[in-house]
Amino acid sequence: MQLQLSTWPEVEAYLAKSKAILIPIGSTEQHGPNGLLGTDALCPEIISRRAGDEAGILVGPTFNVGQAQHHMGFAGTITLRPSTIIAAMMDWAQSLTHHGFERIYWLNGHGGNIATITAAFSEMYHGVSFAGAGDNKPPLRNHLRNWWELAGVMDLCRSLFPVGEGSHATPSEVSVTWAGYPQVASSVAMSPKIAPTGPILDAADYRRRFPDGRIGSDPSQASVEAGEKIVAAAVKGVIAEFQSFAAS
Ligand code: NI
Repeated sequence: MQLQLSTWPEVEAYLAKSKAILIPIGSTEQHGPNGLLGTDALCPEIISRRAGDEAGILVGPTFNVGQAQHHMGFAGTITLRPSTIIAAMMDWAQSLTHHGFERIYWLNGHGGNIATITAAFSEMYHGVSFAGAGDNKPPLRNHLRNWWELAGVMDLCRSLFPVGEGSHATPSEVSVTWAGYPQVASSVAMSPKIAPTGPILDAADYRRRFPDGRIGSDPSQASVEAGEKIVAAAVKGVIAEFQSFAAS
């Protein structure tokens, strides 16, 4: 069940039985020679929508631009300052709590967002505390989960891609996007086959060290079939965790 494909009476009816919503959050940034700019937003979106359809979970719009400053050396990347993300997440959360939601489960697709998302939660909780108690309204609670950390997913990715998983533009994440959009699957030769690894100092330094955008990965191994397996495991994991969070 998707918020954007629902009518307001349908959302009101959902709220009568559940106060929890699932929001995919990600980034719009380069993902190497064969990965989509939207990879980090599409992965949690594909997983969330399938989980929503299977388990009747309400899935909000995808927060699809994140903190991607270090990818700005590559065309198409869009980045938000951490302060902008925090302000926007606060407004999303406040809008939802205004309607009666009490639990927001954020399924994240971008490691670079984690610190900012955690800071946004602290801002939200400060707002609740500073506003004072006494109205008997249960406070908002948030949950952050990175999709690759859902139960069973990391082990599955390692078994599918024992060599060349790497840390950016990975065959696993590219496969997940191809499971959602098989028409974009492509065959692109990687040179070198496995990308280098190392630190990142700034956007220009990133492009110098990792000229095609990959870090430690060989995403030419990506496939729709592998993506379907990863999505199936992630959907199972997110449904179980969302339901226990919603009931908490
Ligand atoms: Ni990524």
